[in-house]
Amino acid sequence: MVDAREQPIGVFDSGFGGLTVVRSLIDLMPNESLVYIGDTGRYPYGNKPAAKVRNYALEIADSLIRDHGVKAIVVACNTAASAALDTLVDTLPVPVIGVIEPGARALARVTHNGKVGVIGTVGTIASGAYDAAVEATGAEVVLTSAACPGLVEFVERNQVDGEEVSLLTERLLSPLKSAGVDALLLGCTHYPYLAPVIQRVMGDGVVLVSSANETAFAVREMLDAHELAAPSSQVAQRRFLSSGDVDAFATLGRRLLGPELGEVAAWHSGAAS
Ligand code: DGL
Repeated sequence: MVDAREQPIGVFDSGFGGLTVVRSLIDLMPNESLVYIGDTGRYPYGNKPAAKVRNYALEIADSLIRDHGVKAIVVACNTAASAALDTLVDTLPVPVIGVIEPGARALARVTHNGKVGVIGTVGTIASGAYDAAVEATGAEVVLTSAACPGLVEFVERNQVDGEEVSLLTERLLSPLKSAGVDALLLGCTHYPYLAPVIQRVMGDGVVLVSSANETAFAVREMLDAHELAAPSSQVAQRRFLSSGDVDAFATLGRRLLGPELGEVAAWHSGAAS
């Protein structure tokens, strides 16, 4: 009989961004097996209608359960979580967690002046998911949000520094600087790779919050609550799949995540992009 605790955790994103969450999951729970799907064949999600992103998310989650027998799902993409988390939670037979609530809780915790910011894709910011999540923390904070189209594309091209990146980042972050925020949530899982530029633009007085670590802690709690944590003696198996160019995914993915990213297999979506 299959022991559910030994089954992998399924993680997905539109591309490489979710690897920031995978890094934190591996560091916190090195014995947990993982299956990661990077939907690079249909990325970016951030500028697509929410209904389309929701369909992608449902399709990937379904494949993680059906083809890989995952015991839980981590939506390691803010855009997908803002479009589909409620539907996934309501319809899937396994526990599901997103990156939005854990990040919002951390943001509310670290601010001193009560002025907080969040940056994300057009889809995430337009959804209002962060306004709702920050409000749900009950913290007395004022949230300033800014969509940052273009930043994800830089990461996917492995262009994480230089003048072009700095100039766009400065322009996109100016509303956050004017608002005087002292804590800024990187509300897109790709953005931690741009943290050095974002920190330089915002200045040393602003704390950058990445949802990756917070999400990993929330995943551990969720597994414990469902008695699904892997036995401590388990040797983790990690599988990486991409709907785009698997060699390109392996090369850049390894640079971003580290040596844990071994071979990359093809994942085929049934839907047209
Ligand atoms: N990494 C995804 C997120 O957290 C977005 C990337 C995209 O636009 O596809 O929102």
